[in-house]
Amino acid sequence: MDILAIETSCDETAAAVVADSGVPARPWTVRSNVVASQADIHREWGGVVPELASRQHVRDICGVVERALEDAGVDWSTIDAIAVTQGPGLVGSLLVGVAFAKSLAASLDVPLVPVQHLAGHIESLVVEGGRMPLPAVVLVVSGGHTNLYLTTAAGEEGLSHRLIGRTRDDAAGEAYDKVASLLGLDYPGGPVIDRIARTGNDRAVDFPFARMTHDDRNAGLAMTRPAGLAAARSGRQLEFSFSGLKTAVKRHVQGRREALGCEDRLPDGEIAGICASFQRVVVRSLLDRTFLAARRFGALSVGISGGVSANARLRADAAARAERDGLPLFLPSLALATDNAAMIGAAGLRRLHAGVTASLDLNAKASLPLDEAPDS
Ligand code: KG4
Ligand code: ZN
Repeated sequence: MDILAIETSCDETAAAVVADSGVPARPWTVRSNVVASQADIHREWGGVVPELASRQHVRDICGVVERALEDAGVDWSTIDAIAVTQGPGLVGSLLVGVAFAKSLAASLDVPLVPVQHLAGHIESLVVEGGRMPLPAVVLVVSGGHTNLYLTTAAGEEGLSHRLIGRTRDDAAGEAYDKVASLLGLDYPGGPVIDRIARTGNDRAVDFPFARMTHDDRNAGLAMTRPAGLAAARSGRQLEFSFSGLKTAVKRHVQGRREALGCEDRLPDGEIAGICASFQRVVVRSLLDRTFLAARRFGALSVGISGGVSANARLRADAAARAERDGLPLFLPSLALATDNAAMIGAAGLRRLHAGVTASLDLNAKASLPLDEAPDS
C-alpha cells in the first residue's frame, strides 16, 4: 500500500511516498521524501513569521507533491491513501496542507488519514531503526516541543504514547534559536551552535542547570501523577526548563560586551566557548531526565527524535549513556530528524492499519496533544 504524506506544520513544505515493506521488524519503506525549506525566507527576521510561512506553503506545495511522486516513480493511480499533519503547529501553515490533502483524497477517492506531528517524529525512529523494544522512553525535542513519552504497545500494530515529562517554559530548539540570535548567529540556531560548539571549550562558562524542585509554575500539566508530595516531586524531576539558561547566556553576553567595550558580536573564540558551554548544559539536562525516566519506567529502549536530535553532541552522549545502561538507542538519520513527510507517511500507515481515517470536514488544530489521539 502506498500512502502520500503531506507535512506543513511550520516552515518546511514536505511530501513523501511511503509504503508497507511487508517486513514486520522494519515495517515502512520510504519511496521518496521531499522537503522545501523556508529557512532562507525567515532568516532575515530571526525566526518563523507565520504569515510568510503559510503563503510560501501555498507557493511550494504543488511542486513538492509532484516531485515526491516523481522521485518515488509512481503516479496518482497507485496512491492508496493520503496522510496529513493535522497539528500541532502554526494554524495557517497546517491549513494549507490539510486543505490540499482533503482535495487530493476527494478527487482520488482514497482515505484521508490525520497524523499528529509528534507521532510522526516518534515514528521516524521506526522508519530507520525498525520496531522499538517496548516499553520505550522517547524524547521528542524540537523547536516547539521538549516532551518525554512512555511508548507502549496498543493493539496489534498500534502504539500508545503517555506524556511523562515536558518543558515548563522554552523548548530546547527554541533555546538554541534564541541563544544563537543573541550571539548574532544565523537562524535556525541549532545547527550553527552545533557546528561552532565543536571548536569551543565546554567548560568556558559555568552556566546553571535547572533543578526541578520548585512548584510547577504551569498549572494544568496534562500528566497523570501519582498522589502525594514525594510523588509530585519525583514527577517534576522529569520536567525540563531552559529559560533560566537562556537568561544566564544573555547576562553573560551583555557582561562580556561591556567588559570588552564591543557593540557588535563577541570575538569568535568567546562565542565558541559560550556555544559549547550552553550545549553541555542542554544536552546533559535532556539526557539526565530521559535516562532517569528509562530507569524509572523499566524501558527496554530509548528513542530521541525531533530537530534537536540532529545535534552531534546529543547523539554522541546519548549513545554513551545507552551503552552504559545496556539499552538500545533509536535516533533518526539527519534527514528524518528535522521536519519531513516520510515520518508522517509512516505514522499515517500505522493509523490507517488501525482503521483510523478522517472525513472531509477534518480541520487543522494548532494545539493537539499526542496522548489525546485515541490510537496513535
Ligand atoms: O523538528 P523540527 O524540524 O521542527 C519543529 O517541529 O520544531 O525542529 C527544528 C528545531 C529548531 O529549533 C532547530 O534550531 C533545531 O531543531 N535543530 C537543532 C539542530 N538541527 C536543528 N538543534 C541543535 N542541534 C542541531 N544540529
Ligand atoms: Zn517537528
